[in-house]
Amino acid sequence: SVTPVILCGGSGTRLWPLSRKSYPKQFVPLVGGSTLFQQTAKRLSGVGDGIAYDKPMVVTNSDFRFIVVEQLSEMGVDPGPVLIEPSARNTAPAVLAAAMHLYATNPDAIMLVAPSDHMMPDSDAFRSAVAKGVKAAEKGKLVLFGIRPDRPETGYGYLELNGQTEDGVTSLKCFVEKPDAENAQRMVDAGGFLWNAGIFLFRAADIIAAFNEHAPNLIAPVEKAVADAVPDLGFLRLAPEAWEQAEDVSIDYAIMEKASDLAVVPYDALWSDLGGWDAVWRAMDRNDDGVAITDGVTAIDCKNSVLRSESPQVELVGIGVEDIVAVAMNDAVLVAHKDRAQDVKKAVSELKKKS
Ligand code: GDD
Ligand code: MG
Repeated sequence: SVTPVILCGGSGTRLWPLSRKSYPKQFVPLVGGSTLFQQTAKRLSGVGDGIAYDKPMVVTNSDFRFIVVEQLSEMGVDPGPVLIEPSARNTAPAVLAAAMHLYATNPDAIMLVAPSDHMMPDSDAFRSAVAKGVKAAEKGKLVLFGIRPDRPETGYGYLELNGQTEDGVTSLKCFVEKPDAENAQRMVDAGGFLWNAGIFLFRAADIIAAFNEHAPNLIAPVEKAVADAVPDLGFLRLAPEAWEQAEDVSIDYAIMEKASDLAVVPYDALWSDLGGWDAVWRAMDRNDDGVAITDGVTAIDCKNSVLRSESPQVELVGIGVEDIVAVAMNDAVLVAHKDRAQDVKKAVSELKKKS
C-alpha cells in the first residue's frame, strides 16, 4: 500500500480574490463540483491499479485544520494523521515531518506526497502512473511525475531524462528547479526535459536518508518537532520551538536538485497546477470564442476571457472584452489583462501593506 501525504499549507495568492489567506484555493470549488483538496483526497483513496491507498496524512496549519476534516468527511474519506505546522516552513520540513512520523509506525511505508491544489481529472491515468512508480520506489528510487512542457514556464522544476526507460519509469540526469527564462526556453527547445508535477513517491526510509545526506541541518529540528508533537483534538501539533529552527526551504531545492537516485514516470493526461487565472481559464469549459464563465455571468461579444461571479448576489456582465480576467466577489473585484495574471500576487502584497 501507499500512504498519501497531502500538503495543504499554501496560500494561493495568485488566485485572489477567490483564494483568500483564511480560505485558499485548494478549499474552494474552482473547477468541477468539489474542491481541489477533495479531488486530491478522492484520487488517492481506495484501490487503484492494484495499489491500496491508506488513509491520507495531511500536513497543514492551525487555521485550516477543521476545513480539512470537514471537506474529507464530505467526500467520505477517513483522515489519517493531520499534522499541524506552527508556521509555514515550506515543503522540505513538511515532507520530512510526515516521513518521520510515518517511519515511526511503519519503517517500510511508501509515501505519495501530493499538493492539494492541482487539477488532474483523469484519476485512472494517475493511479496507473503511481502503480508504475511504486515498483521504482520499492527499489529505493525517489520517484517524480513528469509533464510534457508546452511553454518555457519559469515557475516549475525541469527534469532531464537520460533515456533509459524500464517498466514505464525513466531515470534522471538532473533536476533544475525554477530556471530563469533563458534556461527554461533552452530546455523546452532542446527536448528531453519534462516539468516536475510536484508529486513525489518514495519510501519514508529513503527520503529520510536523502535528508540526512543533502539537508542534514533539517534533521534535528524536525525530529524534535515530531517527537515532542502534542495531540490536540485529534490533530497532531508539531512542537513550535523546534519547528521554528527548521530552515524555510522547498523539497525541490533541498533534495531533488541534489539527489542522484531520481526516477520519473511520464504523465500524459491532463495536469494543471492552476497557478494563476490564466491557468484556470485554460482548465475551465470555454465556448468557441474562448470565453469561460460561471453562473450569474453574461458575456456579450467577448473573446478569450474568464468572467466569474463567485457570489449569488453579484451579477457580472462583460461586453466586447478580450483577454480579460474578471472575478467578482461580494467584497472584492479583480479586473486584469489575462497576460498579467501572475501579477495578482503583487497586488495582494500591495493590499496587505494597506490593511
Ligand atoms: N503543509 C505545507 N506547508 N504545505 C505547503 C507549504 C508549507 O509550508 N508550502 C507549500 N505547500 C504546499 C502548497 O500548498 C502546494 O500544494 C505544494 O505544497 C507545493 O508548493 P508551491 O509553493 O505551490 O510550489 P511551487 O508551485 O512553487 O513549485 C512546486 O510545484 C511545481 C508544480 O506545480 C515544485 O515542486 C516545482 O518543481 C513544480 O514544478
Ligand atoms: Mg504550486
